Amino acid sequence: MIRIALLPGDGIGSEVITAAVQVLDHAARRFDFAIETKWFDLGADRYLRTGETLPEAEYCSLRDDFDAILLGAFGDPRVPSNIHAKDILLGLRQRLDLYVNLRPVKLHDARLCPLKDRAAGEIDMAIVRENTESVYVGIGGSFKLGTVDEIAQNMMLSSRKGCDRILRFSFDLARKRRGRLVLCDKANAIESAHGLWRRALAELAPQYPDVEARTLYADVAAMQMVTHPHQFDVVVGDNMIGDILSDLAAALVGGLGLAPSSSTHPGRVAMYEPVHGSAPDIVGTGKANPLAAILSAAMLLRDFGQVAAADAIDTACAESVRARETTPDLGGTRTTTQVAELLCRALG
Ligand code: NAI
Ligand code: MG
Repeated sequence: MIRIALLPGDGIGSEVITAAVQVLDHAARRFDFAIETKWFDLGADRYLRTGETLPEAEYCSLRDDFDAILLGAFGDPRVPSNIHAKDILLGLRQRLDLYVNLRPVKLHDARLCPLKDRAAGEIDMAIVRENTESVYVGIGGSFKLGTVDEIAQNMMLSSRKGCDRILRFSFDLARKRRGRLVLCDKANAIESAHGLWRRALAELAPQYPDVEARTLYADVAAMQMVTHPHQFDVVVGDNMIGDILSDLAAALVGGLGLAPSSSTHPGRVAMYEPVHGSAPDIVGTGKANPLAAILSAAMLLRDFGQVAAADAIDTACAESVRARETTPDLGGTRTTTQVAELLCRALG
């Protein structure tokens, strides 16, 4: 039994999560395993109604009563401060210490690649982004704000513990994939914080003689992702480098509508979510592509041992992309619901 908390959130979040749950339910019947789902009313509507973002009781329930969280997106024009998204999304990531942000990137259809002469399958990498440190920790401030003498500062944090655990995860992942790991950093310019990453990598590498580990400056990595994307297998970077390179990589294979992710910390409730946001511009039009959410659900199933079901969903998604049985962002004419129905039919 996999216990899954559903946090659809705002905008198209509920549309794509509804589609993903339909596919999950179908896969559970088809592959004979059990899931238990519970919907959580968290997001802009709730905040505007009650002033609550992530009440303590619900946080504790998410932390203690579930194996996984399947999340849509948070962000609503009616809440310009985005306070609810910060409390819920960043709150869960930080408080649960979900330090691994994993973003698989695979080219299913050459047509979706903006680079010329790339075949399907040629781009197949896993970007591992450290999810709790770097310049995203919010330590810093401004001095003489709004004056001509203004000084602003944000601190970049790297901890030895933080580097070791994310690098270990990356080495283990490389072992399960093609055995190649590259650390992307700016150790030439950010000597202390990124120098620590390089030392941690060098010290761990002998424990993984079967993995080919190397380092690459992040600016060079960005260039090579465009010129030689096929060389990359597992790519690891700090919070900011991982953020930027994963968006670049996603753009090589079809963009936001196809980009799934997980945020995990072994032994704790794991979070799965599409990379895209709440897309207020297309809410209610049926144009929301559910594939990123559905591929995120497949990552969930894979992590909880339902590999055959995860493989079948991945294959069905890839085939729907190739057959253009998709929403308009990928060149098709189907609606969100139709895509989910077609995938269920493809699963048999
Ligand atoms: P966005 O990802 O929501 O949308 C960017 C563009 O991509 C829009 O034109 C949208 O229509 C399109 N798009 C996104 N997902 C799509 C899908 N599944 N199918 C078809 N088209 C899709 O990013 P944007 O517009 O910058 O942000 C909108 C709201 O979402 C903001 O409030 C933002 O803060 C929030 N956001 C939330 C995230 C999260 O919850 N993880 C991540 C990114 C943004
Ligand atoms: Mg981003």
